[in-house]
Amino acid sequence: MAGNVFIVTGGAGFIGSNLVAELYRRQPDCHVVVVDDFRSGSFANLVEACERKGVGPFRGEIIPDSVSDLNWQPAVAGLEPRAVFHLAAITDTTVHDQQKMIRDNAESFADIAGACIESDVPLVYASSAATYGTPPQAARRQPFPLEAAGAPDNVYGFSKWLMEVEHRRLAQTNARESGKTPWIVGLRYFNVFGPCEARKGRMASMVFQLARQVLNGQKARLFRDGTQARDQVYVDDVVDCTLAGAGMGEKARPEPGVYNLGSGVTTSFLEIAGAIGGALSISVEVELFDMPESIRAFYQDFTCADMSRTRTGLGWSPRHEPKEAMRAYVADLAERPRIWKQGAGA
Ligand SMILES: NC(=O)c1ccc[n+]([C@@H]2O[C@H](COP(=O)([O-])OP(=O)(O)OC[C@H]3O[C@@H](n4cnc5c(N)ncnc54)[C@H](O)[C@@H]3O)[C@@H](O)[C@H]2O)c1
Repeated sequence: MAGNVFIVTGGAGFIGSNLVAELYRRQPDCHVVVVDDFRSGSFANLVEACERKGVGPFRGEIIPDSVSDLNWQPAVAGLEPRAVFHLAAITDTTVHDQQKMIRDNAESFADIAGACIESDVPLVYASSAATYGTPPQAARRQPFPLEAAGAPDNVYGFSKWLMEVEHRRLAQTNARESGKTPWIVGLRYFNVFGPCEARKGRMASMVFQLARQVLNGQKARLFRDGTQARDQVYVDDVVDCTLAGAGMGEKARPEPGVYNLGSGVTTSFLEIAGAIGGALSISVEVELFDMPESIRAFYQDFTCADMSRTRTGLGWSPRHEPKEAMRAYVADLAERPRIWKQGAGA
C-alpha cells in the first residue's frame, strides 16, 4: 500500500475533514489514517465532507489518540505514507493556559518531523497567521511578508511559532549533516471559512458566525466600526495548497519552507455582511458594538497574506475570490438549517 497511504492529524476537524475528502476525490483507492482525539473534531465532519465531495463514505482508519501519545517513528516507518499532513492543534485561540497550549500544539512536532525525516516522507503542517501578531505592515494595511512574523499576540500564535522554530532548526541541522533539506512545508493559514466548520462553535469563521445570525433572523453583530479587515480564504483553496505542499499540485517537488496561505486580499467585516446579504438577496442589518478590553489586546484588526513566495516556492496561487466564495457558501448554508443550527454562535 506504500505511496497510497496518507496520515492526517486533526482529520476529524474542519480543514482536516475537507482534506481527507479531497484525498479520496483525487485517489479513490487511497488509505487515509486519521489521528484525532476529537477534542474539537467530530466524525460528522468526515461524513459531511465526504458527502459534499461525492466520494463515497469514509473508509480509512482512525487513531483516536492525542498526537502526543503516538509513537511516531514506528508508526511512520510502518505505514510508509506518501505524506503526513499535521493539522491537529488546540484551535481555540482564546485559551490562555500557556503550558497546555504549548504542550498540546508544539511539543509533539519534533517527534512527527523527526519520524518523517527518518523515513523520507513529506510533512506538511498547519501554522497560522497568528504568528504575525500585529506587525508594522498591519498599521499600513499592507500584505504580510514572511519575515514579519515572530511576535504573536497570543499563546496560540506562539505555539505555532514554536513549530516553525523547530522546523528551521531541523532543516539547518539536516542540511549541515546530510546535505539534504528535509521535505517539510509549514503553511501559515489565514482566516479559513467554508463547509464543515459549524461544529467549531464560537471558533467558526466570522463568515459562518454572521451568516448564522442573519439566518436566525438577527442583526449581524460586528465590533465597532466594522472596518476590521482580514485575509479570508476559502477552505477548498487551503486544502489545494496543503496538497501542493506535498507535491500534489503544479510542482512535483515544491521547495520546503514556511509559506503564507491566504487569499492575498482582505475582506472587511462590513463586506462579509454585504456578501451574506448578496447570497440571501436581502439587505443585512448591522449592529455595531464595542470590543471588550479583554479581547482588544489580542485582536488582529488587519491581516493580509503576501502570497508571492507561495507562488514561486509551491507553484500555487489562490483560485477562489473570497466574496464570491462567501456568497456561494452562504447560499448553500441557507439550504441546510441542520448544519448552521449546530454552531453555538458568538
Ligand atoms: N480555521 C482557521 O481559520 C485556521 C487558521 C489558522 C490555522 N489553522 C490551523 O489549521 C489546523 C486545523 O484547524 P481547524 O480550523 O480545522 O480546527 P478544528 O478544531 O476543527 O480541527 C483541529 C482538529 O485537531 C484535533 N486535535 C486537537 N488537538 C489534538 C491532539 N493533541 N491530538 C489529536 N488531535 C487533536 C481536534 O479534535 C480537531 O479535530 C489547526 O492546526 C489550526 O491551528 C486554522
